[in-house]
Amino acid sequence: MSLKIHRLAGALGAEVSGVDLSQPLPDATIAAIRQALVEHQVIFFRDQALTPAQQSAFGARFGPLNIHPYVAGMADDPAVMEVIKEAGDRINFGGGWHSDMSFLQRPAIGSILYAVETPEFGGDTLFASQAAAFDALSSGLQRTLEGLNAVHSAAREYSAQGHSAQKRQSMAIAEADGLAGEYVHPMVLVHPETGRKALYVNPAFTMKIEGWKTSESKALLDYLFAHCRYEGFTCRFGWRPGSVAFWDNRSVWHFALNDYQGQRRHMRRVTVDPWPVEASVSAARLAAQPA
Ligand code: SIN
Repeated sequence: MSLKIHRLAGALGAEVSGVDLSQPLPDATIAAIRQALVEHQVIFFRDQALTPAQQSAFGARFGPLNIHPYVAGMADDPAVMEVIKEAGDRINFGGGWHSDMSFLQRPAIGSILYAVETPEFGGDTLFASQAAAFDALSSGLQRTLEGLNAVHSAAREYSAQGHSAQKRQSMAIAEADGLAGEYVHPMVLVHPETGRKALYVNPAFTMKIEGWKTSESKALLDYLFAHCRYEGFTCRFGWRPGSVAFWDNRSVWHFALNDYQGQRRHMRRVTVDPWPVEASVSAARLAAQPA
């Protein structure tokens, strides 16, 4: 099976064709998809037909699947999350710039979103390369940020007032209440597979810069949040039923546009966690052994 890759924008994004994701794929094809993902940061597939079980099986080839702590998954497979905006809902899910699950101790590496039903118009998703955002900073600010950590939490976004936890007719979403933990991540991530650096803060889940006063932290984060969404770092994907987007959460923000009031949009998402540390260490040891 030979994949065809067609770039969509300067900063990130490529459409991949020549593969049927519903089939059990050989390791070499999975490796080629993974390579396309880390190189282009978000990849898109058209005209797929995936059952929840097939989507789950595809996702599981890239790592263990995440069970979302607040959003209920499907009854048969809790790793498959249905992202649904009914015609009567006003608020969509994911309608603000964010990086999935940065509020966890070990954030998700990728997310795979499949379109079941799309509105007649609208409902596109925007993606922004945080690697391009990092590259565009001065070397002075890059060096400063490389020495800093930020605190992430679901406490604001999944609180009773938060955008993510608002009631929707067909999604069961719990409020984080006092339960959301706080986790510290470097503000600049070095991608473990490419070595490329990317900013790793986002307006939904980054609460503050570790060790800084709230006012100092807000000033720098506000600057970065405005910088990171610059149009030149983005690409935009228009969905059709059967479309799939696979994005790398380590270097990409995304934003689900809510410009289709009165219409239904139905997606399914699986989210890929990093391999447990022990597994990656053993894999690295095996790779280091002479054949
Ligand atoms: C999400 O943030 O996972 C949802 C994105 C979308 O529905 O386009």
